[in-house]
Amino acid sequence: MKGIILAGGSGTRLHPLTLAVSKQLMPVYDKPMIYYPLATLLSAGIQEILIVTTAYDLPLFRKLLGNGSQLGCHFEFAVQDEPNGLAEAFLIGEAFIGNDKVALILGDNIFYGSGLAKLLQANNDPDGGIIYGYHVQDPQRYGVVEFNDRGEAISIEEKPKHPKSNFAVPGIYFYDNEVIEIARHIRPSQRGELEITDVNKAYLQKNKLKVSILDRGTAWLDTGTFSSLMQASQFVEVIEERQGLKIGAIEEVAYSMGYITKTQLHKLARPLLKSGYGAYLMRLN
Ligand code: TTP
Repeated sequence: MKGIILAGGSGTRLHPLTLAVSKQLMPVYDKPMIYYPLATLLSAGIQEILIVTTAYDLPLFRKLLGNGSQLGCHFEFAVQDEPNGLAEAFLIGEAFIGNDKVALILGDNIFYGSGLAKLLQANNDPDGGIIYGYHVQDPQRYGVVEFNDRGEAISIEEKPKHPKSNFAVPGIYFYDNEVIEIARHIRPSQRGELEITDVNKAYLQKNKLKVSILDRGTAWLDTGTFSSLMQASQFVEVIEERQGLKIGAIEEVAYSMGYITKTQLHKLARPLLKSGYGAYLMRLN
């Protein structure tokens, strides 16, 4: 399965922070934001990843992440000229996806929790689409799923004024190859975007959408506003300082997934020794 990280957008809710620097390069405590969704894809067993961003920011992401070989992976980069919506990722990424299945993750979404990697790994070969539902206080900001008594999804609405449930759809989605064809046929919404919710609705209509609940033991944070960005940093700091273990350390995930050897891990750690990040990587067994 291939993966796509969407790291474009305009980041207007973080201006002036994001006037000159991409949102997904902003720090979340001790690492750039994109490390977190990248670590999530790596932990799901996905090693071939396309990073979609703006023409202006692309060289910076390439500088940060390279071609992925240092992590035993393969990274490619592509430009989204305008923030035309999340579903455009499948059109931009068509050649990259080829005949494969594909996971999409938003570059500003952070996932953390026990059992999450196993859950994602179990979902990385979908027949149809697999998305998640997560209980939130403010569902009207998201795509919202309605379930029937048997726990089956029966509707999905984008940013509804009157949400039918508290279950929002987080920014990680798994699809079979048909997603390219579906994305080709959806039309821009009133706000002018190709909506991922319309992709999900198309799968739902075909009876090929599975909505799995991410339970309350999982943290899902997005980082699009000043306060949510600060809260995400604080969350990562609290857990990391308490446990002495890191969230979203891509080198650690690559090592624990068996993508790289200990020798390769140590090579990655050496230039990072002064900040303590490298020392952490050196200590891993
Ligand atoms: P949003 O937070 O919806 O949009 P944004 O990042 O442009 O921010 P703002 O609302 O402050 O202007 O986007 C969610 C994620 O998806 C984020 O990582 C940016 C990315 N994105 C794209 O890469 N392309 C797009 O067309 C859109 C809409 C979002």
